[in-house]
Amino acid sequence: MDRIFSGVQPSGNLTLGNYLGAIRNWVKLQNDYECIFCVVDMHAITVWQDPESLRRATREVAAGMLASGVDPKRNIIFNQSSVSGHAELGWIFNCVARLGWLNRMTQFKEKAGKHKENASCGLYVYPNLMAADILLYKATHVPVGDDQKQHLELARDIAQKFNNDFGKEVFPLPDPMIFGTATRVMSLRDGTKKMSKSDPSEYSRIGMTDDADTIALKIRKAKTDPQPVPETVEACEDRAEAKNLMNIYAALSDLELKDVCAQYGGQSFADFKKALTEVAVDKLSPISQEMQRYMDDPAQVDAILHDGSERARALAEPVLKEVKEVVGF
Ligand code: ADP
Ligand code: NA
Repeated sequence: MDRIFSGVQPSGNLTLGNYLGAIRNWVKLQNDYECIFCVVDMHAITVWQDPESLRRATREVAAGMLASGVDPKRNIIFNQSSVSGHAELGWIFNCVARLGWLNRMTQFKEKAGKHKENASCGLYVYPNLMAADILLYKATHVPVGDDQKQHLELARDIAQKFNNDFGKEVFPLPDPMIFGTATRVMSLRDGTKKMSKSDPSEYSRIGMTDDADTIALKIRKAKTDPQPVPETVEACEDRAEAKNLMNIYAALSDLELKDVCAQYGGQSFADFKKALTEVAVDKLSPISQEMQRYMDDPAQVDAILHDGSERARALAEPVLKEVKEVVGF
């Protein structure tokens, strides 16, 4: 069976972007693939994380997966730092990847901002660690949002260069799997930025644990233009914020953008936003209640992560042994 690896950073509260772009798809994939789902805490610390918040966010991400229907028996759910092979292979990949490759990564440029010399070294080599996450398990498929496509390309380049440098086909070249309408959920405040749990503006995102009033407020405040809902997909083109809200509606209701145009085209955004609030609350509130149940029982979440770590370690061990032999350790 083909093997999948995917991860979410515990760098804040899970967003609707994480749900629609990642976790929701994982629930479907667990039937057809051997899946490894990781809370990537080592990635999170590439920017400052308060230790207690990190611990809480790690459990919350796990709770988000569990509450969404990812089965911890059929899949491996664990946190990255508990399997040291990620760091070991990450270092080897630091020595395989070229500076020129990393210099092209757009996410570093976005996240490091104006003062690049103040960014952590970890933020810069983050894509090498991500390659290690995937290749430590020789995963063949990586479900990612559109934002991670470039990093996955880099993982393929690293796998290929490693195989070439050492003259042995150690690693498969992992393929991205990108899904449907919500491959890139955008910020509610700025249609050119992706919705992210690390965005400083609380109103830019809908959190998976936001209550109904908060969801309603954030959608009401979401940026739009004064025109009514576009009637065709083409008419959505220059209206990033409008299109984003419609895509979110489509994804939450298992529709296509064109269906939303047909259903709401010509109506006011005030009315459309009410409909959107309703589907968002309908979809998220059962999940958020279940997440709360897990968060009230941290020992249960920790036990699931611990069990997942042991199973992940068992898969990683032979790969790491092979890699070390090939490298000459
Ligand atoms: P964040 O930016 O919220 O910290 P992560 O880097 O932890 O997100 O990404 C976790 C997963 O969620 C990845 O597969 C990523 O592609 C997906 N993802 C994150 N934000 C979005 C978004 N706005 N739209 C679609 N998918 C997203
Ligand atoms: Na991120």
